This record gives sequence, C-alpha cells and structure tokens, in this order.
Amino acid sequence: MSKAYKIAVVGGDGTGPEVVAEGLKVLNAAQHRFGFKLDLSPFDFGGERYLKTGEVLPDGAVNELRQFDAIYLGAIGHPDVKPGVLEKGILLRLRFELDQYINLRPVKLFPGVDCPLKDKGPEHIDFVVIRENTEGLYTGAGGFLKKGTPDEIATQLSVNTRKGVERCIRYAFDCAKKRNKDNKLTLCGKTNVLTYAFDLWERTFYDVAKEYPGIKTDYAHVDAITMWFVKNPEWFDVIVTDNLFGDIITDLGAMIQGGLGIAAGGNINPEGVSMFEPMGGSAPKYKGQNVINPLAAICAGGMMLQHLGEENAGKLIEKAVMDVTGTKIKSLAAGKMGYSTTEVGDMVAQRVADMKE
Ligand code: IPM
Ligand code: MN
Repeated sequence: MSKAYKIAVVGGDGTGPEVVAEGLKVLNAAQHRFGFKLDLSPFDFGGERYLKTGEVLPDGAVNELRQFDAIYLGAIGHPDVKPGVLEKGILLRLRFELDQYINLRPVKLFPGVDCPLKDKGPEHIDFVVIRENTEGLYTGAGGFLKKGTPDEIATQLSVNTRKGVERCIRYAFDCAKKRNKDNKLTLCGKTNVLTYAFDLWERTFYDVAKEYPGIKTDYAHVDAITMWFVKNPEWFDVIVTDNLFGDIITDLGAMIQGGLGIAAGGNINPEGVSMFEPMGGSAPKYKGQNVINPLAAICAGGMMLQHLGEENAGKLIEKAVMDVTGTKIKSLAAGKMGYSTTEVGDMVAQRVADMKE
C-alpha cells in the first residue's frame, strides 16, 4: 500500500493562497510520480477570518492540527489588522504550542538567480541556518513597571534553557553530518556581551561537539557574521543560533540567495507536527494579480516532503525549481518573472512529472 500523509493547508492572507495553490500543483505531480498520497485539509486561519469572527485561532485548532503529519502554510498578515495580532496569535502560537523548536532555513543560490553580491555564484552560497524557535527573546517574558510614568521600565528577557539549547544544537550537528558538505557547524552568538545566555550556548555547543568528532566547530559573533554573509558566504555550511539572531540573519540570508521570492523555511518539531512556509509574507498589493513568485512556496513543499521521508521527491522538486530558474525565469521579483504565478507553477510541475531524477 502506498504511504499517505495528512496535510493541513493554511493558505492564509494576501498572496498566500495563490502561492500555496502552485505548491500543491507541484506536490500533486510529485505524489503521482513517486506513489505516495497527500490527504489535504484546508483551514481558513488568517486576517480575513479574524476580521469576520474576532477570533484569531478557534478553540481546539491547535489540538486539531496535532492530528496531521505536517502543516503547509502560505502567509499570515493583513493590512487591516494591527501588527502583532496575527503573528503572535497564529504563527508564534503554533510554533510554541506544537513545540516546533527548530527553524530551518536553507540559504542556497540557485542557477540563473541574480545575486546582489559581486563575484558570488551558486558555488559560493549554499548553507543552512538552524534557528532556535521557541525560546530566547520570543517567549514574552518581561513586562512594564511604572508604565506611562517618566520612570517607566520595560524589560524583555531572553530565556535560554539547557534543554532547549541542547536539543537545538544537537539537531544542528545532525544536520551538518547529514549534509556531509564541509562537515562544519558554526555557532553564531554574542559571547563578548551576552555573557550569561551565550555562555550557556557555548558550553552546550562544545559539550555536544564531543559526540560528533567528524564535525568541525567554529564560532562567529552575530555582528561579524553579517559581514561574512556578504564578504565570504562560502565559509558556511551549517550555522546554529538563537531565536532573534536567527530571525535577523536569515533575512540577510534570503537576500543573498536572491530574495524572498525563493526563500523557504520549516518550523520543525522532529518528534511532532512541523510547518513549512515561504518567507515572503502576504504581499497584499500583489493579491489576485497572478504575478507573485510561487517558487518559495514550492520549495517549502519540497522541504515538507523531505521532512516526511519522501527524500527523492523533495530533491526532485528542488532540481525542477533550479531548472526553471536556470533556464526560464528572468527575475524572481513579482511582476518581473516573464511568466505569471500559475505559469511558473505549471513549469515546475511539468518538470517534476517528466524530468530525469
Ligand atoms: C519569521 C518572521 C516572524 C518571526 C514574525 C512574523 C513573528 O519574521 O518567521 O522570521 O519574527 O519569527
Ligand atoms: Mn523574520
């Protein structure tokens, strides 16, 4: 009997549903070719639902999502909803409650994609950032004292647990081993200033390193790493870092790989339900015009398949995307691709159906 996977599909806001539709087109081609089955269940979470019902996530939604093998997400964010409401109420809540403690962000420059870095090509930019996804400055710990007075105090605490840091670092070592590229893991931190949080990270990093004698270890301060991403991106294989630093450096990573149109990510609970998404956001001004680039969503679908154990299908999706960027698309920017959203989805799906593996 062929394998079946239950997938929750959250198109979300803005252009989210359009790019997810193209991702599903490609996933459909993959399931036919590779003989597995995806059982899709749509969910209407997002700004529209919130504006209609006043509810960000309905009661029981998180528990319902626990029944799935994975979640495929488009974008969350609506121009008529105050910033933070949907991000905290949907995206961060799912990450925390489903304990998706890894944020996995491949930074890879595909052939034919314009890179803003002079003299850098696909041979120089191919690394993975592993961002801790449930702790650090994102837990909401802290608060106000004397709010609204001249003596007001606001604190925002970075929460780092040995358990949380260790499981993230262990995942990163495993990733470096599995990639088998340079067999190198770089810890990105700020040990010269954040002498408690990154002391814990550093001690844990070198403790876990003893279990991985085949992996070279390296360290970079977060400020310096932003320079190296621009000057020497070829130095990196796998990078592990905390939640906020990871948030910041992965946006820089997206730019050096050609932009948000191609950047995909996974929110991963290796023992639970993981969620895959394009990084681009809801891009409301392009909604409904069939001009947005669906490649990031398509790549997120490929990552989802790899995570589910359909490695060959996931790899073929990446290969098909690389063929489309290398031979067809003029630019990754919305409206400048030389093709519509649906045409780009068709081109990738066609290749996933016929291309040599
Ligand atoms: C990301 C986003 C989120 C984050 C926002 C939308 C809360 O920027 O996934 O990187 O800060 O983690
Ligand atoms: Mn971000």
